[in-house]
Amino acid sequence: MDTCFYPTNHKSTLGPALSSIIYSSTTSWTPYYNFKAAYIDPTILFEDALLRTLSGKRHFVGGLLEIPPHTVYNWHTDTDRHCGLNMLVYDDGQSRCLFAPEGEQVVMPTIELKYKPNTFYVFNTKVPHTVINFTAPRYMFSLEFIGRDYGLTYNELLSDIKELGYGN
Ligand SMILES: [Fe+2]
Repeated sequence: MDTCFYPTNHKSTLGPALSSIIYSSTTSWTPYYNFKAAYIDPTILFEDALLRTLSGKRHFVGGLLEIPPHTVYNWHTDTDRHCGLNMLVYDDGQSRCLFAPEGEQVVMPTIELKYKPNTFYVFNTKVPHTVINFTAPRYMFSLEFIGRDYGLTYNELLSDIKELGYGN
């Protein structure tokens, strides 16, 4: 499991701010890869202690990603990043995120990431993964590393999280 994802020990305080962005009529959603995305202002991100601490070491941007109901995001690895820091902000309990640690095959073992509320997960985007969403729009918060930290690996981010005291 640790090779696919890793839960931090931190309870994020961003939930209410992210929910109000999701439900605000003034939020601008733009097409981003296969999603609709909304950029989150750093002043909001840095209200969260983990993100504020991590920003002392790494450069990143944060956003919300929406997947519509009755949609599958097919098995893939991310092309432009090695890892992310993800938190499920809203689903109706009817979405699934699966990893295939042994690679994509016709029949393959999978590991489910069951998101706990208000919890950031270090996410290995280089292990094949899929999202299956059923009845409601699903909103994910995700960090992307930029500038000199573009290309940050899963193991490097995992070390940072542990070093900063947010490991389990
Ligand atoms: Fe992905």
